[in-house]
Amino acid sequence: MDFSRLLLQWYSKHQRELPWRNCNNPYYVVVSEFMLQQTQVPRVVEKFKAFILLFPTLPDLANANKANVIKAWSGLGYNRRALLLHSFAQEVITKYNGEIPSVPEALIKLAGIGTYTAGSISSFAFNRPEPAIDVNVRRIYMRFFHGKDQGLPMDKKEEQKLYNLVKETIPENNSSDFHNALMDFGSLCCTRDTPQCQHCPLQKTCQFFPHYKSKGPQALYVMEKKVEQGVKENGKHIPHRIFRGRIVEYIRNNNNKEVSLSTIGKAIKKDFTINDSSWLLKLCCKLQEDKLITYTIDDQIIKLNLAH
Ligand code: ADE
Repeated sequence: MDFSRLLLQWYSKHQRELPWRNCNNPYYVVVSEFMLQQTQVPRVVEKFKAFILLFPTLPDLANANKANVIKAWSGLGYNRRALLLHSFAQEVITKYNGEIPSVPEALIKLAGIGTYTAGSISSFAFNRPEPAIDVNVRRIYMRFFHGKDQGLPMDKKEEQKLYNLVKETIPENNSSDFHNALMDFGSLCCTRDTPQCQHCPLQKTCQFFPHYKSKGPQALYVMEKKVEQGVKENGKHIPHRIFRGRIVEYIRNNNNKEVSLSTIGKAIKKDFTINDSSWLLKLCCKLQEDKLITYTIDDQIIKLNLAH
């Protein structure tokens, strides 16, 4: 198919060198895919290398204690992903004797794996022709084949149609490179806000190109920004998620220390006052529920630990 051929041609000139590519190591693919779930490639590259030095193989990760895995996740955000990756490794040891399964039907039953990651591990690590459709892949297909810059949401029927379309375009025996090409094309050429249509080799057959040519940025889909729940810090809205991350970061550096509530409060929120104490405790309680930390509190003195 023209689309796939042109895309692979583009990839042969523009591909990014990334440490989890072309090394034939499914464990590297898994680690990278967990890291890339909500974090951009440039940030992941260095964190990935450091993580692999600490946990070179899947059994090393499975046998590590949780606190060390959470520590190694520093700077990546969404700390729960670290725990899910750790559980994934342990499940692969117990259920699959340490061999990462290659088919999405088996992968999806493991910790931290959704439809996209099941497809991506299967494609990237085992070269199986399994669609891995994230927002970037969806944008490329909707633009090229349907001339639409469509955002969320899609209903089940549309999702299925898109899945079938992607499946049809995966070249025989080349799913891994093809998906790498989609990833790079989506972040370097067919980007969300500033598509490089004027330099795009798929321009002639792309259904979206004529719209973009005539309307310019008005042809682009503008995603509604969701406001995450949070609180004000010095007048600025900050999501609870960021404060959760700061608490975990604080404990990374002060594990097992006893501190007053206001000490940790001031460390994680610039304008913390004693009135924020119950909010802070709620965040700690939720982090404990999520099994990221444990804490005990006695008369405003809190002792915090990363989960074991
Ligand atoms: N995003 C998710 N997986 C990726 C990959 N393998 N390469 C680049 N970006 C990605």
